[in-house]
Amino acid sequence: MADVMEKLVSLCKRKGFVFQSSEIYGGLNGCWDYGPLGVELLKNVKDAWWRAMTYREDVEGLDASILMHAKVWEASGHVAGFSDPMVEDKKTNERYRLDQLLEENGVDVTGLGMEAMMAKAIEVDLKSPKGNELSEARQFNLMFKTFVGPLEDDSARIFLRPETAQGIFVNYLNVQSAMRQKLPFGIAQIGKAFRNEITTKNFLFRTREFEQMEMQYFVAPGTQDDHFEYWREERWNWFRNIGLPERKLSWHEHQGDELAHYASAAFDIQYEFPFGPGEIEGIHNRSNFDLSQHEQYSGKKLQYFDEESREKFVPYVIETSIGASRTTMACLVNAYHEEEVKGDTRVVMRFHPRMAPIKAAILPLVKRDGMPEIARTITEDLRKHFRVEYDEGGAVGRRYRRMDEVGTPFCITVDSETLENDTVTVRDRDSMEQQRVPIAELRTHLDKSMDAWEAV
Ligand code: GAP
Repeated sequence: MADVMEKLVSLCKRKGFVFQSSEIYGGLNGCWDYGPLGVELLKNVKDAWWRAMTYREDVEGLDASILMHAKVWEASGHVAGFSDPMVEDKKTNERYRLDQLLEENGVDVTGLGMEAMMAKAIEVDLKSPKGNELSEARQFNLMFKTFVGPLEDDSARIFLRPETAQGIFVNYLNVQSAMRQKLPFGIAQIGKAFRNEITTKNFLFRTREFEQMEMQYFVAPGTQDDHFEYWREERWNWFRNIGLPERKLSWHEHQGDELAHYASAAFDIQYEFPFGPGEIEGIHNRSNFDLSQHEQYSGKKLQYFDEESREKFVPYVIETSIGASRTTMACLVNAYHEEEVKGDTRVVMRFHPRMAPIKAAILPLVKRDGMPEIARTITEDLRKHFRVEYDEGGAVGRRYRRMDEVGTPFCITVDSETLENDTVTVRDRDSMEQQRVPIAELRTHLDKSMDAWEAV
């Protein structure tokens, strides 16, 4: 397991997918920078989500600010309840999440609250990873605090948002009336979220700064269960469409104390990471909790008027909440393959072609006879439609391998036959087979091949 993750983290750095934040200063825990290829992959994931979620009649887009009124987080319950159980190593003062320590020691904490977990810790004589006694557990609030304006006192204290959802709740009537939407309808948003996680680990999986892609679907009371089932199915299918195979996905239903303070039902979609199944998306029935709380705390009516029934009510909400960064990590893990080819090890990133940062590389076989010029013209033509790269450096076999390592699905080679009949070879990343294609048909060929691709 460690082996695969180590290799992946190293490839991500070497090839420009992901760098450690502030690396020259020793790094900042739980923060990562997306390099040139990483930012492209992340953007492809976000674009696929945005298209699937907002290019439809019943969902609108939004981009709310990260900084919000402090009262938002009192109303949402995050000030009082957005915390993890924390214990301290009595000797070193290092802090750990109690549930994680227990799980690492083989204790199942499903559905257990903090007190029940502490009882388990005593029962199994839980020690810190350094072998020392642990303190009593206490709840640690995960929200980052900051100040707005020049005064650094309590009146100016606000939070970095720990979820994008609240920006949607407080804008729901603005969007509904501006867009003349009727229930059921949704609002979708992509944006950064911040959580001061007690421990960060597993690369992009649990970080302190990350991106979420959330959608709140507002429905009439009594219809929430049907919508919940509909969105569960939609979201499951979306992962397959971006190239994550069904056999690597699973459901996890939240029980008892596992349920967040706002949720009356919750299912996670998990991906099978090298370190075990991990949540990549949550589908939650948030009831009318958030809107009712905001009504109470703001003093403003957030009711919807149903023209047909002539009734006023606070809608119920089905939420789909997915980590863009975690999904990007799932794509990276899923793509990583090593295989033996003619006695050599080939590292190949088998991304879904639509997710791949570079769609095609254009390679002149040799740097003479007009081949570079033809290859440059093809590059410029294709660049209008796809992210492509021109590469003339080194033996063609080595250029293919370089492209395999960053997951480029097609390598287009200009050779001596091109000079005679205007065709090129197109090499497929996965099968390594080559096909002759007329230059004039390249764009259609790439589009068709990308659409026909299926996860193995
Ligand atoms: N609005 C509901 C909500 O935020 P969540 O289950 O806490 O629900 C949703 O988070 C998704 O956000 C998770 O499924 C995960 O993909 C991502 N996420 C949460 N915490 C994260 C972290 N510390 N690092 C990276 N991604 C995270």
